[in-house]
Amino acid sequence: MTRETWATRAGFILAAAGSAVGLGNIWRFPWVTADNGGSAFLLVYLGIVLLVGVPGLLGEFVVGRRGKKSPVGALRDLSGSRAWGLWGVFYVVTAIALISFYSVVGGWILRYFGESALGLAGARPAYFTAPGEYFGGAAAGLDALGFHLLFLGLTALVVYAGVRRGIELGTKVMMPAVLALLVGLAVWAGTRPGAAEAYAFYLRFDLATVRANFFDVLAPAAGQALFTLSLGAGTMITYASYIDEDRSLPFDGTVIAVLNTLVGVLAGLVVFPLLFSLGVDPSQTAPGPGALFVGLAGAFSQLPAGALVATAFFGVVVLAALSSSISMLEIPVSFLVDEYGLSRQRAVALVTTAVVVTGGVCAINPTVAGTAVFGFVAGPLVDTLLTAGLTAVLVFVGWVMGRDAVAEFRSGAGGFSAALATPWLLAAGVALPIFLLFTLLTTFGVDASLGFWPTVLVAVLAGAVAFVGLRTERSLV
Ligand code: TRP
Repeated sequence: MTRETWATRAGFILAAAGSAVGLGNIWRFPWVTADNGGSAFLLVYLGIVLLVGVPGLLGEFVVGRRGKKSPVGALRDLSGSRAWGLWGVFYVVTAIALISFYSVVGGWILRYFGESALGLAGARPAYFTAPGEYFGGAAAGLDALGFHLLFLGLTALVVYAGVRRGIELGTKVMMPAVLALLVGLAVWAGTRPGAAEAYAFYLRFDLATVRANFFDVLAPAAGQALFTLSLGAGTMITYASYIDEDRSLPFDGTVIAVLNTLVGVLAGLVVFPLLFSLGVDPSQTAPGPGALFVGLAGAFSQLPAGALVATAFFGVVVLAALSSSISMLEIPVSFLVDEYGLSRQRAVALVTTAVVVTGGVCAINPTVAGTAVFGFVAGPLVDTLLTAGLTAVLVFVGWVMGRDAVAEFRSGAGGFSAALATPWLLAAGVALPIFLLFTLLTTFGVDASLGFWPTVLVAVLAGAVAFVGLRTERSLV
């Protein structure tokens, strides 16, 4: 059976942008920005998107388009090494971890969307009355399990329908809808009293905060950039493996990063005016679930036509989350199809069954060894896996593919972007892995005990050890 490909160029861009645009943009980005110095943080973040995100995206694209297989097959075939193929399985595991918690959150959102839509029909949305308590009841347990299954089912349906008729068609509808609704909501929010104050808060250029926290801000900014661009899980490898024509990867990657950033900025332009117009101080609401499901949900209850606004808003979030979750499910599915020759339909059934269980555990959210499973998976586990995952792709591109990566980068690219190929390879092979290892170490608080420069040194040493290991591994092949 021939491998499916995207029908159109826009199809690939929208699918990848759909993967990127998700919960990361809507519930995390505005708060992280506001907490870390407003538009000055935005500058640091944009710098990281440009210097780490886009090169990282291109790393995954180059592996995917050259390899034309799932991450497992691509890494193995391009290197000729079984060890790299084995590392590819790591991405399949990461993807399962991701979708396990993501589909639980997706379930919450579906529920809020449903409640809001019922509100349109005249009923008062149940979460309007006591948002905090309502969320407490919805977040975990059997209810959460039910909605998790529903969201997972929707995701599975799209993936089941295939690359063209499912993912491409779906994201071609979802992405424009997300953009249009968000712009509409942002314009409307701008007419609310308090909007000016909200903009001042959100986009204030607070250089002092950034300067004071520069190194503290780097790791969260990098983590956010990775998550929001869907890097480190092999999603972009998989999507790029369905490209069948030579077009400019640097151009496509830039468009995707710009679209993704735009949605994050727009989300802030919706969320903050709403909170400010009701006198809620956003810096008092923690980022994450509480901000969206308690702070904002509570705000809707007090707005004129609150149910309508809430329906539009949660509609945006459902679509954004769905176009991301399908990209997560596609990784293990493409793995089973490419490696074991399963039909897409059987592969979807198999993977979905597995996620019913793993996601089910996140939905029920038991505490294991003193740690709540959901928070662990959604936080440290996924952060670590993604950083390690992207680091490995970049090392692969820099040290295993080398010239081939440059050729793939240039293929279809215009003169200007083709000239960036060599600097890109150097960044991918050396600077970025060290930077990412550094952020990994700070995530574990190593810098707090060792100090900044010793941590950088440890990152460099770890990089050197990995490099030597890699050389040895290659000579074994
Ligand atoms: N980027 C998505 C978001 O911001 C989440 C996502 C989809 C993702 N696919 C991924 C994150 C792969 C990491 C890896 O919500």
